Amino acid sequence: MGKSVIIINGPNLNLLGTREPEIYGRTTLADIEALARDHGRRLGVDVSFVQSNLEGELVDAIQKARGVHDGIILNAAAYTHTSVALMDALKATGVPAVEVHLSNIFSREPFRHHSYISPVAIGVICGFGAKGYVLALDALVATFD
Ligand code: DQA
Repeated sequence: MGKSVIIINGPNLNLLGTREPEIYGRTTLADIEALARDHGRRLGVDVSFVQSNLEGELVDAIQKARGVHDGIILNAAAYTHTSVALMDALKATGVPAVEVHLSNIFSREPFRHHSYISPVAIGVICGFGAKGYVLALDALVATFD
């Protein structure tokens, strides 16, 4: 059976392309999905893609990953810095996760320096824009045996 990865995106990432392009670039979420699916094909991994602005829907997506996907790539966006619920969902499901941010959260406002996701993630990729999702796929797939 081939491996499967789900890429989960949080609030406001549906606006990528027009949202603060000086920070997040001009690549749209649809472009990122196409990049990730192409890269998944190269790696021989099935890639699913979801986005929600709602914290509970993100919790549901993480819970549903158990037994279906072999790994999660999560850009929880602003919920990264606030959501115990997302951290608990990742812990509860136990599906290995890589945390992604387009921007380098550590070179930005201090409130972005803390992540509830990092302690329960395998690792973090931030600051490389849309390419970060491709790097995260490589990093995640490298952990599969
Ligand atoms: C983000 C960084 C977060 O601090 C911010 O709230 C986002 C996007 C990123 O991808 O750089 O919405 O996760």
